[in-house]
Formats: sequence, C-alpha cells, structure tokens
Amino acid sequence: MNNALILGGTGFVGRHVCEKLVRAGWTVTVATRRRSNAREVQHLPGLTVAELDVHDAAALARAAAGHDALVNLVAILHGTQAAFDKAHGELPQKIAGACAAAGVGKLVHVSALGVNAQKPGALPSMYLRSKSMGEAILLASCSQLALTILRPSVIFGAGDKFLNVFASLQKVFPFMPLAGAEARFQPVWVEDVAAAVVKSLERSGAGVQTLEACGPEVFTLKQLVEISARLAGVNEGQGRPVFGIPAWAGALQARMMEMMPGAPLMSRDNLDSMRVPNVATPGMPGLATLGIEPAALQGIARDYLSQGSPWHDLLGVRLRSHFR
Ligand SMILES: NC(=O)c1ccc[n+]([C@@H]2O[C@H](COP(=O)([O-])OP(=O)(O)OC[C@H]3O[C@@H](n4cnc5c(N)ncnc54)[C@H](OP(=O)(O)O)[C@@H]3O)[C@@H](O)[C@H]2O)c1
Repeated sequence: MNNALILGGTGFVGRHVCEKLVRAGWTVTVATRRRSNAREVQHLPGLTVAELDVHDAAALARAAAGHDALVNLVAILHGTQAAFDKAHGELPQKIAGACAAAGVGKLVHVSALGVNAQKPGALPSMYLRSKSMGEAILLASCSQLALTILRPSVIFGAGDKFLNVFASLQKVFPFMPLAGAEARFQPVWVEDVAAAVVKSLERSGAGVQTLEACGPEVFTLKQLVEISARLAGVNEGQGRPVFGIPAWAGALQARMMEMMPGAPLMSRDNLDSMRVPNVATPGMPGLATLGIEPAALQGIARDYLSQGSPWHDLLGVRLRSHFR
C-alpha cells in the first residue's frame, strides 16, 4: 500500500494532487493548520485530515511515521522576510529531518520556476530567495531519498488566483494599468502539475531529479490579462484597455494593494519576482521527462472563465470594505 503525507494539500494545487493520488490508489493524509481548510478534500475516499502545526519538527516527524512518501506544497506569496524564511527555508529543513526520522523514502517538493539553489542571493525577491534556500537544504540533506523538486511556472486552472483575478478586475475597472506588463510567463495547467507530482512519487529508485513544469506557450503578462478578459466575456469579449506602467508607479500601486485588507492582489515582492523571466530554462528537463504533454491555456481557461468567477464577488467585497 502507498501512503502519502501531503503538506499544503488543501490549497489550489494540493486539492488536485489529493484527488489524483486517491484515484491512483494511494492512501493520503492531509496535514492542515485548520480542519475546516480541508473541506474540499475531506470527502475523498482513503483520505484522512490531520490538524498539525507543520512547523513543529517533532509533531511533523510523528505525522510522517508510517508514510512512504511526503509531498510539500506549503508556500506563501506575501509576508515578511521571517515569514518567507520560515515557510520556504526552515520548513524544508524540518521535512528533511522528519523523512529521516520516520523512514520516508520519497519526497516531492514543489518549488517555483526562477529558483536558483546554487545562487539564492542573486535573486531579486524574498519569495525566490527563500524558495532557493529550501531547495538547497533539501539537495544537501535528502540525496538518499527519491527526491523530486518540481519548479512550475504560474499555474492556471479552475479556481486559480491568476486569470480569475485579472478577469474579475476588468469586470470592475474600465481600464488596467499594469506593472510588469512585459514580464514573460509559460503558464502550466494545474492538472499537469498534479499529474507530475503523482508520477514523481511513482518513479522507482532513489536519487534527485529537478524538473521544470511549464506549459507549451510563452505569454507576456499583458497578453495574459487581455486573454483572461476576452475569455471571460468582459466588455462583450473585447476586454479593457491594458497599458504598462513604469516600475516606480508599479511599486506605488503594489504598496497601496499591500495596505488593503486581506492578502494583497500584488505586492512589491511579487513585482521583484517578475524581474526573473518565468519561462523554461534551455536544457532543463521538464514535464516530458514524466511523459506529460502539457495542455495549452486558452481551451481550458475558456471553460472556467466563461462561467464567471467567485473572485469577482470577493473583489467587490474587498473594494466595498476598503472605500466605505
Ligand atoms: N499557484 C501558482 O501559480 C504557483 C506557481 C509556482 C509555484 N507554485 C508552488 O506550488 C505550491 C502550491 O501552491 P498553491 O497555489 O497550491 O498554494 P496555496 O493554494 O496557497 O496553498 C498552500 C497551502 O499551504 C498551506 N500554508 C499556507 N501558509 C502556511 C503557513 N504559513 N504554514 C503552514 N502551512 C501553510 C495551506 O494549508 P492549510 O491552510 O491547510 O494549512 C495552503 O493550503 C507552492 O509551493 C507554490 O509556491 C504555485
């Protein structure tokens, strides 16, 4: 029997990973800070939800006991330096310890495109530097395991906080001033990322593999914003005028978004991350290594964007609460 402990299994990618693992016959434990966060996966057969502070090394090692595999999907997009270091650097250290203590033989760590485990200091954002630190720690301490490090570009799919948010913004605002408009991305479908996690767990033998997870096409951010509105039918399918703004204005815009209630739509650190092209590195192995042919964006995004997005309502609530 294959048993996997999933950290971050309640999130956008995690929900798809859980579903695929269950379908493939795995027994799954999802660790979560709050049981209520797991409502979208708790019904899956053979899945157990465990309330756990993953940052408690001893508790994590106890939770890992009895599992053949561990998947780490925990990440944050916004926060202080200390919060990034804790989530992306210190947690992998604890995961390495837990795997060693509990005899877990397989580990899949979902990182991010643009990470450089050899030169973390050279990267422009707290997100990328802390993610790099996490990879470096795992590479140094888990070489005896079957370790897969997966580096996705931005991930799209039903319920994403990416195309849905761009489309929702354009339902509310008549035009889109966009920071980082020319930043490049190679978006990958959430189902392809989840399939890559499952296939990585099912590979035989030990050793480390680092794979990039990218879709088949490269887009600028501006193109993605325009596509999202078109597919969502905003302004009768014409979308809104989208124009790039200079870096200083982007930083000011991000600063203002950071001051709004809830998680910011865009932070200054997100802008810093976009200075690294989010596209496949020539020569790096990708999804094809796992036999996955990645899906193109528009056919899939049309389906979920044209149905309307819960982000539209959420955005409306946030704006009303801010400007009241
Ligand atoms: N989404 C993308 O476009 C994208 C692109 C590149 C890479 N990735 C990577 O893919 C992985 C999964 O991303 P995702 O989009 O699924 O993220 P997500 O939806 O934000 O989910 C992350 C999960 O991590 C847990 N978590 C969040 N903050 C935590 C904290 N401070 N301490 C402990 N647990 C915490 C949460 O679980 P509980 O609330 O249940 O505790 C949450 O379900 C991450 O490593 C991310 O960096 C994502």
